[in-house]
Amino acid sequence: MELRINPAVIHMDESIIRDMTRVAEEAGAINLAQGFPEYPIAPELREAAAEAVRRDIRHYTRTWGAPRLRHRLARHLHERWGTGYDPEEEIVITCGASEAIMASMLTLLPPGATAVIPEPIYENYLPAVRLAGARPAILPVDPFTGAWNAAELDDACRGAAVLVLNTPSNPAGKVWSREEIETLAEILERHDVLLITDETYAHITDPAHPHIAPASVTGLWRRTVTISSFSKTYAVTGWRVGYAAAPRPLMAAIRKVHDFMTVCAPAPFQRALATALDLPESYYTEMAATYRARYELLAGGLRRAGWKTNEPHGGYFLLVDLRHLDIPDDRAWAVELAHTRKVAGVPGSAFLWAGLPRDDGTEPDRRGRFLRLSFGKREELLAEAVARLS
Ligand SMILES: Cc1ncc(COP(=O)(O)O)c(C=O)c1O
Repeated sequence: MELRINPAVIHMDESIIRDMTRVAEEAGAINLAQGFPEYPIAPELREAAAEAVRRDIRHYTRTWGAPRLRHRLARHLHERWGTGYDPEEEIVITCGASEAIMASMLTLLPPGATAVIPEPIYENYLPAVRLAGARPAILPVDPFTGAWNAAELDDACRGAAVLVLNTPSNPAGKVWSREEIETLAEILERHDVLLITDETYAHITDPAHPHIAPASVTGLWRRTVTISSFSKTYAVTGWRVGYAAAPRPLMAAIRKVHDFMTVCAPAPFQRALATALDLPESYYTEMAATYRARYELLAGGLRRAGWKTNEPHGGYFLLVDLRHLDIPDDRAWAVELAHTRKVAGVPGSAFLWAGLPRDDGTEPDRRGRFLRLSFGKREELLAEAVARLS
């Protein structure tokens, strides 16, 4: 039997983040590669999930999401980020932001279309672009300074269907400012490009650099699909609940793909997460402050040990600068680091277009630029990682 596999899948690399987790286990290394947060769940949230199971909530919800969660979420989005969505027609609850990303890309990218993606790139975007039969146009953004060039963006957007923005970003921790988003808005308007924004880390920012929801910036709402997740904010990555919000015509199309892809997100957790949105403001300020303190612990320790790092404004990832080390293959280097220094991170080439397997068979460029470390971990692990890298 001839095995016929979609070429988009053949060229898909296995997740390097999961690969580095396996390496960490083999090497007995501290795993700062995988991003799940070691942060306690709010007790009322755990109780709400248990209560939902006890109350026998165990069947499909409405495919767009449980009404209670959609309505509560619409209010939350309005109060927190200033965006207005009709919970009946402009929101879909998905199996994590991951599904929202895949469903939105498959919906908005016809075969042959172009998706503009700022780089470094979160792992899930390129596989989604490929599965849609579309192709990426990469906008380089300096991972250390966050700088990008408006003329380059203008060029990339010519003829493109979609731009995929991640703010705060993974891995670079860039929080796009209002001025930057306004510039983006002008360019997208000029070329009539839609915007997909992934705001998974919106609640985890340095207070000096608050999250700006692109859909709240003048002119963007009508062309934006806003995606986010409950995974990180409430430390429930395994519950698999996220969402997309978009104006009616866009949402009607995305909902169809969601329906056939997963039907609905887990019912008891949807019920519980409506409770999460009632947590007091102190929950968010404490969480952001905890991650900030962990950042100071890891970055401060590494810098004292002679490493250079970036200064992320959001999310819980740190980039260690490797450019001065002349590393020809950063994957091999990261594996060796896990074995010798017993700390696992993600090699930067995993987030760079040039570093990924090429369709044309040429060798990827894996020169050492940066290593991503997660500081979403317990303080004692971070302190031990610093000791091992010193
Ligand atoms: C930028 C970004 N988007 C989306 C996701 C996926 O989130 P979810 O657990 O909701 O699928 C992650 C998880 O690491 C992420 O870092």
